[in-house]
Amino acid sequence: MLKGYVLITGGNKGIGLALAKTFAKNGHPLVLVGKDASALYRARDILKNDYHVPVSLIQRDLTKKENVQAIYTLLQHRKIQIDILVNNAGFGTYGPFIETDLEKELQLIQLNMQCVTHMTKLFSKDMAARGYGKILNIASTSAFQPGPYMAVYFASKAYVLHFSEALHHEFNRYGVTVTALCPGPTKTDFTEHAKGSGKARIFQSMLPVEKVAYLGYKALMNNQSYKVVGFKNNLLRQLNRCMPRGLTVAITGMLLSKVDHPISELVKKE
Ligand SMILES: NC(=O)c1ccc[n+]([C@@H]2O[C@H](COP(=O)([O-])OP(=O)(O)OC[C@H]3O[C@@H](n4cnc5c(N)ncnc54)[C@H](OP(=O)(O)O)[C@@H]3O)[C@@H](O)[C@H]2O)c1
Repeated sequence: MLKGYVLITGGNKGIGLALAKTFAKNGHPLVLVGKDASALYRARDILKNDYHVPVSLIQRDLTKKENVQAIYTLLQHRKIQIDILVNNAGFGTYGPFIETDLEKELQLIQLNMQCVTHMTKLFSKDMAARGYGKILNIASTSAFQPGPYMAVYFASKAYVLHFSEALHHEFNRYGVTVTALCPGPTKTDFTEHAKGSGKARIFQSMLPVEKVAYLGYKALMNNQSYKVVGFKNNLLRQLNRCMPRGLTVAITGMLLSKVDHPISELVKKE
């Protein structure tokens, strides 16, 4: 059995790739899962050349439920033991709910919530049986309040945060840790997939991907139940707690509106 591997979904790009580099720098062998084969090969080349760790690739579309079980079975055949699971793959949709694409949103629910749940179920059982394991779930600062114009995405990340915090408590007795990483807007391809979101006020200032990955790795190793990345994001989260819920939602709606929509018009509408 090949032990000590870190499995990262969406490990070929963005936050997932930055996390892969951070794990590799610390000597962890990797399994990367993604849809885009050329990005997977590119990521493997970088990781092998720069950090000299073994990197195994699995190309699968995780919006298809059957592929989650297929990944687990494939790893058993390859005799690779996953000691750290990183549920990172995810995407958002952007726009008024009555106009956004339902099919995309159903895929989002499958990837951001069902896949995270399914992967965690399969791998955590083995970790618990061994008495050791770590799980890092990529949530978001979106997890802390509802998000008008990104309603489904924000709700999906609230699920990831609550799910992770609950398991952090439950799994303590098995020697398995669970951490939710909550970055604010981060410079990746995210806004290209959530079409139009690049023009939203909230995405005008973004965190560097390396900082998000470093703090996520540290939080995981320190067994934190969750980690919010960024001073401003932490401050906003604290303010949220003191404000009436309706006001928080209205402010988030403004932050998610496009920069070319004057705030004065939005306030009139609210
Ligand atoms: N960027 C932000 O502002 C931000 C903030 C907070 C949280 N997050 C979260 O961070 C995570 C990573 O996002 P990112 O910002 O790094 O975006 P990204 O650059 O678009 O990366 C998304 C990753 O997910 C993978 N993925 C997407 N759909 C997939 C599918 N159907 N099957 C398998 N893999 C799939 C992609 O691989 P392929 O291209 O191969 O499909 C890619 O590796 C997501 O969960 C996101 O919600 C992002």
